[in-house]
Amino acid sequence: MRILLHRADGNTEPWVRDFTEVLPGAEMVVWQEGAQEAPCDYAVLWGPPAALLGQLAQVKAIFLAGAGVDAILKFGDALPNVPIVRLGDAGMAVQMAEYVAHAVLRYFRRFDEYEKQARRGVWSPLALPKKSEFTIGVLGMGKLGLRVIDTMAHFGFPLRGWSRTPKQLAGVACYSGVESLGDFLAGTRVLVCMLPLTPETSNLLDRARLSLLPQGAYLINVARGAHVAEPDLLTLIRSGHLAGATLDVFRNEPLPAPHPFWDEPRITMTPHISALTVRRDSVCQIAGKINALENGEPVADVVDRTLGY
Ligand code: NAP
Ligand code: GLV
Repeated sequence: MRILLHRADGNTEPWVRDFTEVLPGAEMVVWQEGAQEAPCDYAVLWGPPAALLGQLAQVKAIFLAGAGVDAILKFGDALPNVPIVRLGDAGMAVQMAEYVAHAVLRYFRRFDEYEKQARRGVWSPLALPKKSEFTIGVLGMGKLGLRVIDTMAHFGFPLRGWSRTPKQLAGVACYSGVESLGDFLAGTRVLVCMLPLTPETSNLLDRARLSLLPQGAYLINVARGAHVAEPDLLTLIRSGHLAGATLDVFRNEPLPAPHPFWDEPRITMTPHISALTVRRDSVCQIAGKINALENGEPVADVVDRTLGY
């Protein structure tokens, strides 16, 4: 069996090593622009260029070394009509839970303000916000969103979640569909975006929608930059309607040097690290799915191209 491997970061060598260990029968083929390779049975990709698509003509399935699928679905009809399989958790959900818990607690417990006080030598306890009014609203109740909801439940925050299809979850107010989004946002103090980027969710968080959040609300975006209208977010933070944001993802990554976010202290930024791909877990998950497909068995996490996730 031949497996085509490509990673936009060029760091293919440890992936080849792990796949060779986990699937000893497989021959790993690292994609190189211009090289004429014999056809491969499967492809494992992250951030492929258009020039690679010609190599996919005979693959039986395409595996993505990440959870988001926007970077491959953008090729649309140029993709072969084979299953596209993304990672399902594979060590990312716990990282998301760590990241979001940190960001929420930092805002709730006013750590930024204590930090400033400490630098000025000030010893002064600050009032705690009312937890019953500190509702966390999670957009996207999938593999990652559900883990975040479960984690935040341990701290006793009121919780709500929004998804495309209706859900029922003990202790969580569940909303579904775009018609319920206004009500969902109106009662959310900390908004956590964990949606896939699709035509329906692109630019979802624009000025109109973000304005529905109550005064003093806070945004955490760990999904994709294009969910948020960046100038609108900045305007609402500067007007005082929103208290601030923690952003891990941006429309253009790396965030360009002249960008107003760099100068806004109420925006905390990280370089797309909220949930990194865990190589060994991912290789084991993909290898398990390849074995299942070879045995004619179904696999989880197949992307629905019509829905875009
Ligand atoms: P997932 O399991 O596919 O879950 C997606 C969730 O979003 C589902 O609950 C789905 O609703 C909901 N959804 C999709 N379209 C919707 C719409 N139009 N309206 C309302 N809800 C909608 O995805 P996941 O594994 O949790 O990953 C989520 C995203 O996180 C990925 O797509 C990726 O972009 C991002 N991510 C970021 C990082 C990072 O480091 N920053 C790392 C990993 C992933 P249903 O349940 O009804 O289907
Ligand atoms: C990272 O952003 C991923 O989608 O896995």
